Amino acid sequence: MKGLVLAGGAGTRLRPITYTSAKQLVPVANKPILFYGLEQLREAGVTDIGIIVGDTHAEIEQAVGDGAEFGLQVTYLRQDQPLGLAHAVLIAADFLGDSDFVMFLGDNLIEGGIGHMVEAFRTDAPAAQLLLKQVTDPERFGVAELGPDGRILRLVEKPKDPPSDLALVGVYLFTSAIIDAARRIEPSWRGELEITDAIQRLIEDGAPVRASHVEGWWLDTGKKDELLEANRIVLGTVERRIDGKVDARSELVGNVVIEAGAEVRGSTLRGPCVIGEDARIVDSFVGPFTSIGPDCLVERSELEFSVLLRGCHVRDISRLEGSLLGREVSVSPTDRRPYAYRLMLGDHSQVEIPGGP
Ligand code: G1P
Repeated sequence: MKGLVLAGGAGTRLRPITYTSAKQLVPVANKPILFYGLEQLREAGVTDIGIIVGDTHAEIEQAVGDGAEFGLQVTYLRQDQPLGLAHAVLIAADFLGDSDFVMFLGDNLIEGGIGHMVEAFRTDAPAAQLLLKQVTDPERFGVAELGPDGRILRLVEKPKDPPSDLALVGVYLFTSAIIDAARRIEPSWRGELEITDAIQRLIEDGAPVRASHVEGWWLDTGKKDELLEANRIVLGTVERRIDGKVDARSELVGNVVIEAGAEVRGSTLRGPCVIGEDARIVDSFVGPFTSIGPDCLVERSELEFSVLLRGCHVRDISRLEGSLLGREVSVSPTDRRPYAYRLMLGDHSQVEIPGGP
């Protein structure tokens, strides 16, 4: 069985972070989302992996390399334009040959891995095996309509009037029959060849399409709040580990990870939280569900439920929460008149400040 990992796509919903970074490399608990998927593939014994890349190919290729670090052999497949998930399958047709494969969306994360799903596929040998999850906003996803016996009747992509609240999770198992089905569909209203439509084709062909339900969490990290939520959930699974330096005036509570080269002075850290390599936390409070990236400096500040990417500087701020800072962002009070907000924000940035009527 092969793996097809999708790491193209523009990541428009995570702008401005994704102007300069692939959405699949945005970190969750200081590790790129994509790496979790690659690890889950290897754990399921799927090691021959094609990664679909787009405009951000250089960054993805640099991060993943030839896959050896993950115990994988990786082949990169270029998708020049984000024309849909079924289009990605067509691009990968030569790589896939007539092999069965797992298709894994690089910004999706599921609890507990995919081993059981791969096993079920090997035993039952359907044409497609899907994962479903109950959601409150099904109109944002592919949606499955099930019959009374639990069989899939119909799949629709982002329906205005969803037939159920069961979303299609971004992990699929296919035989090569999906390639032929993808050749027989038309672009959707958003101009993409939808994998949902290709699977619907299989259903119409009378091919066996099975679905199981995700028991644990499923995270689709496409937007800021979802990313913070993913960070919260994944941090909930980390165990205390102190590889950096912590001085006697500091207090660490709960599951705190301090990476090598990081330094904590005169601060209180309440886990779960992670402090990246060579980061410094000085006279500050870092609250639960916070990931501080490598090389960050946090001084005389309080922050909580936030994600800071590499090289941020937060000084004299009380208090920051629910925030996502891109690389090398600096947040500090002004020390010159006029005492006003002075901002330099990328396109599509969002700022919320206390105040109001
Ligand atoms: C894609 C699929 C959709 C699926 C979702 C899961 O949506 O088209 O069916 O439910 O991934 O993350 P997209 O991310 O392209 O909006």
